[in-house]
Amino acid sequence: MITTSHILLWIETTADYIDNNSTYLTKLDTAIGDADHGNNMKRGFTKVRDLLPSLEGQDIGSILKSVAMKLISSVGGASGPLFGTFYLQASNEVKGAEVLDAAQLGAMLASGLEGIKKRGKAEPEDKTIIDALEPAVNAYQESAAGGGSIQESLEQAVSAAEKGAEATIPMIAKKGRASYMGERSKGHKDPGATSTVYILKALQDAVSGDGE
Ligand SMILES: Nc1ncnc2c1ncn2[C@@H]1O[C@H](COP(=O)(O)OP(=O)(O)OP(=O)(O)O)[C@@H](O)[C@H]1O
Ligand SMILES: [Mg+2]
Repeated sequence: MITTSHILLWIETTADYIDNNSTYLTKLDTAIGDADHGNNMKRGFTKVRDLLPSLEGQDIGSILKSVAMKLISSVGGASGPLFGTFYLQASNEVKGAEVLDAAQLGAMLASGLEGIKKRGKAEPEDKTIIDALEPAVNAYQESAAGGGSIQESLEQAVSAAEKGAEATIPMIAKKGRASYMGERSKGHKDPGATSTVYILKALQDAVSGDGE
């Protein structure tokens, strides 16, 4: 089972991953964008980290909704509203919940994915967040549907996200600033897809050891 403590730890661990890798994320965005992705994510998750103590005692839906609103309001650029929408739609799926089982966690992640797809209108292979998040959610769902535990299913999700992010390297960007580069966007890993891997790794870390 996933508890509210796991969710708070997930968000805090995500902030750690973003802090530790913000220079790398900005480097990726220097190659195909405007060199701000690491800074955007770091600004957002620093604000979110500051918010976490005030969210203790709230249910999972409320925690994720506050995270969403903070990201949307504090991050300029495409990624703030997009990741914000991920947490917002995820929160709608788990309104009022104090615990989540493997299937509910899968439904939560799937709603977050749908939110980003609706908001950003990216298709698979447009070289975006979707290229990491969609295979990850699919892998999670497949594992959980086959009786996999939360940890096992998250392991599948992280590995699919990593593969998906690597697979963006040869893609030509079709969305956002990177799309202005056309063919020249080939040969570089997508920054947003890379951040997506950190978000999922953080979730796996947060539940490792006692997530069932
Ligand atoms: N429509 C979209 N759907 C999903 N992800 C997207 C979309 N547009 C951009 N992204 C993701 O956002 C990342 C860029 O985020 P960043 O924080 O650098 O914001 P930005 O500089 O405003 O981006 P951009 O101008 O590329 O939209 C990209 O690497 C990509 O993964
Ligand atoms: Mg950018």
